[in-house]
Amino acid sequence: MSKQAVIDATGPLLRAQGVRMVYGDGQGEVVALQGVDLTLSLGETMAVVGASGAGKSTLLHILGGLDFPTSGEVWFEGRTLARMSDKERTTLRNERIGFVYQFHHLLPEFTAQENVAMPLVIRRMSWASALEAAAQMLDKVGLSQRLSHTPAMLSGGERQRVAIARALVTQPHCLLADEPTGNLDRDTAARVFDVLIERVRESKCGLIVVTHDPLLAARCDRQLQL
Ligand SMILES: Nc1ncnc2c1ncn2[C@@H]1O[C@H](COP(=O)(O)OP(=O)(O)O)[C@@H](O)[C@H]1O
Ligand SMILES: [Mg+2]
Repeated sequence: MSKQAVIDATGPLLRAQGVRMVYGDGQGEVVALQGVDLTLSLGETMAVVGASGAGKSTLLHILGGLDFPTSGEVWFEGRTLARMSDKERTTLRNERIGFVYQFHHLLPEFTAQENVAMPLVIRRMSWASALEAAAQMLDKVGLSQRLSHTPAMLSGGERQRVAIARALVTQPHCLLADEPTGNLDRDTAARVFDVLIERVRESKCGLIVVTHDPLLAARCDRQLQL
C-alpha cells in the first residue's frame, strides 16, 4: 500500500455504514451489532458506551480491521477495509492504528521504556533512537520517573499509561481503546482517561474509546450508544 494512496485529507478518518455482525447461525445466532453508522475525523474523540454484550469490542475489532462485519462497510482514510489485501490491512494496522486494551499486555521481562520502544524497533528504528522516543512519550504520560521499572513494579494506572504511551509512540492516525481504564479504581481511571484524551488531542489523531463510565464518556467530543 503506498502511503500516498491512503491519505484522504478531505474525507473522514474513519467511517462505518450499516455495520452488522452476526455470530453463529440458526438457533445459536447472536446479533452482536445491528447496523452501526459512525464517522470520525482526525483530532476527534468518540466514546462508545453500552451494556456488557452490546457489541462494543466487536465494533472495535471491525473498525481496526481485525474482523469483518456480516454486512456493512468500513472505510479508513477513504479506503474500504474489506477490499484491501491481508497484507495491506496488516500494514494499515501497524502504521495507522494504535490499540489499547483493558489489560495492558506489556511484556513482563522488559522495562517501561523498552516496552514503549518495542513498536519502533519492530519498524526498524535503532534501539538508541527508539529508547529516546519512548522516554519522551513516557514523560508525556507522567512517567519520566518510571523508565526502568518493569510492569510488576508499576501500579495498575501506571501500566495503563505505559500501554497508552506504547500505542501513541508510533504516531498512529487513529487510536482504538477497549475499556482502557476498566480495570482501575474510579479516581485512577479518571486520571488515566484524562491523560489519554490530552495526548490524543495533542497528537491530533482520532480516538474511539469504549467505556462503561458515563462521566468519562462525557469527556469525549461525541458518544455512540450501542
Ligand atoms: N467470537 C464470537 N463468537 C460468538 N459470539 C461472540 C463472539 N464474540 C462476541 N460474541 C457475542 O457477541 C455479543 C457482543 O460481544 P462483545 O462485542 O464482546 O460485547 P461488549 O464488548 O459490548 O461486552 C455478545 O453476546 C457475545 O457473547
Ligand atoms: Mg468488550
